[in-house]
Amino acid sequence: MSYLMAHKDDPLSRDVVFNVPYQLLRCENRVSILREKGAFFSGDKLVDFLFTDVPIVKTAIYDPAAGCGDLLLRYLDKLELASSFSESMQEWECIVYAAEKEPSFVKLMKLRLWLLLYLKYHERTKLGQLVIPDLRERFAGVVCRDAFKYLPETMPNIVIMNPPFQQVDSNGVYSWGTGKVSYAAIFLYEMYKRFPKSRILAILPDVLRSGSRYEKLRTTVASDLKSVVRVYGRFDKKTDIDVFVLDHRPDMRKRVLRNAGRKQGRMICDDFAVHVGAVVPHRDALKGRSCFFLTADNVPPGSNIVRVKEKIKSVHKSVKGPFVVLRRTSSPSDKIRCVSSIVSSSHDFHLDNHLIYLKPREHKSELKLCQEVCNFFSSQECSAIVSRLIRCRHLTVRIIRNLTYKGGK
Ligand SMILES: C[S@@+](CC[C@H](N)C(=O)[O-])C[C@H]1O[C@@H](n2cnc3c(N)ncnc32)[C@H](O)[C@@H]1O
Repeated sequence: MSYLMAHKDDPLSRDVVFNVPYQLLRCENRVSILREKGAFFSGDKLVDFLFTDVPIVKTAIYDPAAGCGDLLLRYLDKLELASSFSESMQEWECIVYAAEKEPSFVKLMKLRLWLLLYLKYHERTKLGQLVIPDLRERFAGVVCRDAFKYLPETMPNIVIMNPPFQQVDSNGVYSWGTGKVSYAAIFLYEMYKRFPKSRILAILPDVLRSGSRYEKLRTTVASDLKSVVRVYGRFDKKTDIDVFVLDHRPDMRKRVLRNAGRKQGRMICDDFAVHVGAVVPHRDALKGRSCFFLTADNVPPGSNIVRVKEKIKSVHKSVKGPFVVLRRTSSPSDKIRCVSSIVSSSHDFHLDNHLIYLKPREHKSELKLCQEVCNFFSSQECSAIVSRLIRCRHLTVRIIRNLTYKGGK
């Protein structure tokens, strides 16, 4: 409101409705506060991506973590208008449902809903000329409530959400995750349980799709969930977290949050045991058997290693060559996602925790298998597949095991 008053001579515009509120919020609050509240709002590009293939129709729509209404506004913006402002207002009030914990966000959401509709019917109004009604009793479906203690009056046909992503305590309530879990995982699970017949469109952190911690959630939800998953990439220029969108349609016959199904051909787990290096030098007691010690620093990419200068004592089991070493750190912006090297000698090695290793299962032609899998790792095809499956900056054993590296086309 103070912005409207301070810019009396500016016209009411889409910028005022869509962009200014978030710009002000970001200017006036430190990122740590936004993070704590999970207050990162969706922009045009991401919402367009979310709404791909979604028919925009007048139907009950609910956002359980609505913030200042960015998702809802963009849906309503595309709706056909009724013949008058008041008729459209009535229609919107009937179909819009939102829950938000922060009272000031709820107030702003109602104001933006009203401003957007007003803008559609009244061109070139100056901000100082607006006569804004008391909106407290309007938009009865937009409430300041905890989404887990609230059910909209009408079952929504569409649930849209960009839930908060911060880590919260799961309080031992969920069989799929203990300790700290992503709040987004809880939102997804709870909304999926509450609205089994609704189409759920969600913006979610990539870790829910690719992290091994959420494997159980994926199985729980995906076992009867019919959804399409699309990778988006970085949330926005200022928010460095990779996201994907989930379009869950109970009316669809397709399966899943699971990763791309198994193609014909050989998977890495058919021919290799895949593990993460066990040694964490600053944490482990440095005693036990002394062996060569492989780290991300002494394994040059694409190299063929026989021995290294460094040695370490460790109680962990050593790994006998030959085997393949992969760096765990891998960013979606890297040209090659799986940076590999071969350890070709039969010496024993200890491996640092920043490395993944692949030990051939077959004794015969071990080196040939190692070479074949390294050729696959250095291909563009492999990098494209891995980038589709995982946007986080760490490769996981599960993703590597399930890659089809031979004859999968
Ligand atoms: C990431 S923002 C998303 C806002 C909006 N949906 C968007 O995409 O722009 C998440 C919002 O959820 C709210 N929130 C967090 N926990 C909540 C809860 N239990 N019930 C309702 N809202 C909640 C936060 O205050 C925050 O505004």
